[in-house]
Amino acid sequence: MDLTRVHQGIEEELKDAAARVISSGRYVTGEENAALEHALAEMHQVEHAVALNSGTDALLLGLMAAGVSREHEVITTPFTFFATVECILALGAKPVFVDIDAESFCLNPDRLERAFTLKTRAVIPVHLYGHPCDMPRIAELTGRESGIAVFEDCAQALGAKLGEKPVGAFGDMAAFSFYPTKNVGALGDAGAFITHYENLAEAVRRLRNHGQSARYQHDTRGINSRMDELQAAFLNIKLKHAEKWNKERRALAARYDELLADAPGVVAPPVKPGCEHAYHQYTIRAPRRDEVQRRLNEAGIGAMVHYPTPLHLSKALSHLGYAEGSFPEAERAAREVLCLPIFPGLTAEEQERVVNSLRKALEKTL
Ligand SMILES: Cc1ncc(COP(=O)(O)O)c(C=O)c1O
Repeated sequence: MDLTRVHQGIEEELKDAAARVISSGRYVTGEENAALEHALAEMHQVEHAVALNSGTDALLLGLMAAGVSREHEVITTPFTFFATVECILALGAKPVFVDIDAESFCLNPDRLERAFTLKTRAVIPVHLYGHPCDMPRIAELTGRESGIAVFEDCAQALGAKLGEKPVGAFGDMAAFSFYPTKNVGALGDAGAFITHYENLAEAVRRLRNHGQSARYQHDTRGINSRMDELQAAFLNIKLKHAEKWNKERRALAARYDELLADAPGVVAPPVKPGCEHAYHQYTIRAPRRDEVQRRLNEAGIGAMVHYPTPLHLSKALSHLGYAEGSFPEAERAAREVLCLPIFPGLTAEEQERVVNSLRKALEKTL
């Protein structure tokens, strides 16, 4: 992945923004932060956005704002990046897993209901790889229960939509990551929290600043998760290109779909009806995955496995006592998925080279 290509054409604008911040003398939570929060709220059809230090902090502070603590359970998918679950563990709450849907790689709502208990305090659907979860169904099921917060993990899905509605607008709250490789990335770590509810937004605003409601008035214990003005300034520029870049990702995905149509044993990523995929990753299922990946990497192609171990089988969660076979679809995905290079600026020739190398690797591993 060549991140510098994304910046071609906006490099001068980014340098000017950095110069502006340097001469402003204000380096955290200033005007650039305010502008970014405004733009994020508007883009996601919500009232409130809070700029933070990372997507991980957005998840952590959102759960804290929703009152998640030791007595609670939080339901999520075992097939996600560790941060989703780390935040639950950080609060002493118990992660409860629900298997994924084989097509979207997202939490399967058909399995959600049986995971509810009296201790369930939140559900975190993860729009994995940029494919939207079935939010209407999740809302319907959680709506029947009392006091369960729906917290969308949109780290990989900025710009993905269900119908006309962007992900992040469905739940009670949502977390975004602007890690540099994300669809819209900062030039360092950054994240954001969005919500329809003022009380949750205010709580996260306090929590990101040591629990302060005013200077040196610490209402609760918080952390330092303020966003740098530099990162906010870069993001204000890059956010304007989000739609164009996502469109380019979708065109690249369509081209991969075509090129892979008759590749033996390969399953291209399906898109569920009504969904607009953000293609943070273009994830195929490949036979003999590990060997195929090794050959692609040897040919200089950055094919990656996100993620080789489903979280219920990771060492950090061994205390939960999940055995192999607990979530068959997540385990199968972990064995089969392979993410092919996709980013704005990737050329048609490069895509052909990726697919030709993949075909050769498939042949050689037979
Ligand atoms: C699904 C998911 N959730 C949360 C995060 C955490 O975001 P960050 O790296 O900004 O802390 C990531 C980032 O990689 C992610 O992919």
